[in-house]
Amino acid sequence: MITFGCIGCGNMGSAILGGLESQKNVSLIGYDPSGNVPCTACDSNIELAKQADIIMLATKPDYVESVLEAIQPALSEDKVIISIAAGVSMETLMKYSGGKCPVVRCMPNTPAMVGEGIFAFCFEDPALTEKQQTAVLTMFEQLGQVMVLPEAKFNAFTAIAGCGPAYVLYFIEAVTEAAVSVGFHRNEATEMAINLFKGTTKLADDSDLHISQLREMVCSPAGVTIAAVNHMDRTAVRGNIIDSIFEARDRGIEMSK
Ligand SMILES: NC(=O)c1ccc[n+]([C@@H]2O[C@H](COP(=O)([O-])OP(=O)(O)OC[C@H]3O[C@@H](n4cnc5c(N)ncnc54)[C@H](OP(=O)(O)O)[C@@H]3O)[C@@H](O)[C@H]2O)c1
Repeated sequence: MITFGCIGCGNMGSAILGGLESQKNVSLIGYDPSGNVPCTACDSNIELAKQADIIMLATKPDYVESVLEAIQPALSEDKVIISIAAGVSMETLMKYSGGKCPVVRCMPNTPAMVGEGIFAFCFEDPALTEKQQTAVLTMFEQLGQVMVLPEAKFNAFTAIAGCGPAYVLYFIEAVTEAAVSVGFHRNEATEMAINLFKGTTKLADDSDLHISQLREMVCSPAGVTIAAVNHMDRTAVRGNIIDSIFEARDRGIEMSK
């Protein structure tokens, strides 16, 4: 039995705890100052750190250093700390945990809240054993897609998958506004836009065809879809999406200096 403890049970912490709920051989504990914990609640962070084999830090980044200092006396090399705090480096995690226990940096995205997340893991702490890596991966593989990345790629991953839900939702909003503009009721328009994305991503996922071929299938010669796609090309929608992701990556690099 592995005890998984979550420090900070807000949006992300609760979502991950919810996803792990059904896992066999995993017992869940949590601490949050509000007392709102979706599993067995501990009285303090240090109490949680004493009991847990895997300790997830899911507070806002500003609290990570003080939480790590507070739990240091309870840490040992057979435990693992996983931090999901955006922008908090491996160097900071190792420094504030005093080298007393291996640390893992992780970046989730919000679809983790519905069991469809993408998680990047950095396993660059030499103190982390292969057995501990496997335990972490096995646990998170059931919550979505799991990728092991060097820390140097975290800003790029964040700009694509971490920020990505905002880009997709932005596109869904735009389609909804267009549908409202041509006369659909807002509820109808929203449902239509969401199902459009749901159905298309399922098609892309299930099909053996490349996504470009799937798009070409909709673009009949001299038809209505090719007129829209040509307009997107003339107004550089694709180039602007790529540049927007580069902006996010560059902002991440700037913030982590
Ligand atoms: N949300 C995202 O899209 C996303 C994506 C990737 C990574 N992350 C990372 O995930 C982390 C959590 O984000 P979130 O959106 O879940 O934030 P959140 O909803 O604000 O949750 C953080 C929780 O930690 C609690 N907390 C504050 N101080 C604490 C302490 N000393 N000990 C234990 N718990 C404490 C907060 O309580 P109070 O509210 O009472 O202060 C709150 O309930 C952040 O570091 C963020 O960078 C988030």
